[in-house]
Amino acid sequence: MGNFDKEIERRRTFAIISHPDAGKTTLTEKFLLYGGAINLAGSVKGKATARHAVSDWMEIEKERGISVTSSVLQFEYDGYCVNILDTPGHQDFSEDTYRTLMAADSAVMVIDASKGVEAQTRKLFKVCGMRGIPIFTFINKLDRDALDTFELLDQIENELGIATCPINWPIGSGKGFKGVFDRHNNKVVMFSDTEKGTKEGKSWEIDMEYQDELKESIGEEAYSTLKDEIELLDGAAAEFDLKKVREGKLTPVFFGSALTNFGVEIFLNNFLSMSTTPLPRKSDIGIIDPMENDFSAFVFKIQANMNKAHRDRIAFMRICSGKFEASREVYHMQGGKSLRLSQPQQIMADDRKILDTAYAGDIIGVFDPGIFSIGDTLTTAGNKFNYEGIPTFAPEHFARVRQIDTMKRKQFMKGITQIAQEGAIQVFQEFNTGMEEIIVGVVGVLQFEVLKYRLENEYNVEIRMDSLPYEHIRWIENKDEIDVAKMSGTSDMKKVKDMKGNPLLLFVNEWSIGMTVDRNKGLVLSEFGRN
Ligand code: G4P
Repeated sequence: MGNFDKEIERRRTFAIISHPDAGKTTLTEKFLLYGGAINLAGSVKGKATARHAVSDWMEIEKERGISVTSSVLQFEYDGYCVNILDTPGHQDFSEDTYRTLMAADSAVMVIDASKGVEAQTRKLFKVCGMRGIPIFTFINKLDRDALDTFELLDQIENELGIATCPINWPIGSGKGFKGVFDRHNNKVVMFSDTEKGTKEGKSWEIDMEYQDELKESIGEEAYSTLKDEIELLDGAAAEFDLKKVREGKLTPVFFGSALTNFGVEIFLNNFLSMSTTPLPRKSDIGIIDPMENDFSAFVFKIQANMNKAHRDRIAFMRICSGKFEASREVYHMQGGKSLRLSQPQQIMADDRKILDTAYAGDIIGVFDPGIFSIGDTLTTAGNKFNYEGIPTFAPEHFARVRQIDTMKRKQFMKGITQIAQEGAIQVFQEFNTGMEEIIVGVVGVLQFEVLKYRLENEYNVEIRMDSLPYEHIRWIENKDEIDVAKMSGTSDMKKVKDMKGNPLLLFVNEWSIGMTVDRNKGLVLSEFGRN
């Protein structure tokens, strides 16, 4: 295998998802302990230091203590080159999460053992399911009193609808947490209590055969509980099946404690060997293999003004095939132009590292003078195709937005347009009139606050927002066959168009949608748009 193939083969790109506070950040930090972090694009969202370094453009984030933006980091471990994509934890940002998942080849789901499946886990999981990517479960905080292990597995199976296969099994929890049982090797792995929390922390193994030794180490009671549980488990749990794991139908489950560093290394080793190399991606000319020589990528996230002093905008792209070389021109499909990506970089907290090369599976951030939109494809010159677009989630909240000072129309439109390109809001206009009226749609209401804040702070425009009663939006699938101007809906239906002129319908309730479809023969409506 040549060096090019090897570089791609050794890459693992995954998103890490959890309900806030389950331990995503702590687990990520422990991963970094094992591998030397080489690049951080965005930040580890890590407590205190890194958090404000990256997103000082968004005070809201600090005020609310939530991570609005997602970040990317890369590290080397055991010959692998690992890319971790952090996902925003707040429920309002499921759309951003979805985009992040589009850039990943698998997902790690962190669950708090004392809480089980929580609201946000459910939501994120649903989003993962839409992509059918492999999901690996790390049940965290075993150093605290945990729910019954079988109960935890039941919750995952019943509430998330995915089969589970425990790769290891916890021995006790809270003060009584002794270690884990490694099912494959039929061994108990224990950790020294005194050296926990360090990379070097000692762990040792005792084969299940050595009953006496085991009883002495973990105690008679824990031993007999473990024996019973294993028996039950062997009878009830799904067999490990890598194919099902890769199809996202079976999740391997691991137990541990990120904080005290119990079970993190076992998880990392297994996860890396079970997860896939960069996956092929769909395009309008067919499947594109990551091993193809020609570079290609798609934009999945745009982040504005990461550094206020520069007032710049970074487009994050996932490389899907080939090798990126900074010195070579690439072709931007949507712009119809060849260009050299400006300052390709991976961003270390507040420091930025310009890079020369990157491979399929990697994420790079490039300086964006305002030409990229979410979902855009970049290829090697002469090689024209588009990656499958990232679906636009149907906004559920709408407001009419106008600038207070009419003289500031230009800044207002610039701000609205740029923020829409970043995918934070969707912008619509009245169907029949010109540019004057702007209707903004958002998936989560927090985005309205973000919009207001950013327009004031970055574009110096004060706005007025009047909320509208609509909760549903539908794209007209067969817009060429329907005379939208003439079609009749219910009295509370509103016709709008997006910035590209596509007609859309807004509805107050589901009933109106049904009525409208009934009244207009042949009308086909869809809940998703595509970038
Ligand atoms: P998140 O990114 O998923 O939101 O969670 P994060 O890692 O920030 O962890 C949330 C809290 O849970 C933190 O405590 C963290 O120390 C704690 N935690 C993470 N993993 C474990 C674990 O395995 N065991 C125990 N007992 N606690 C864990 P905090 O008090 O909110 O923050 P901090 O002041 O400790 O940083």
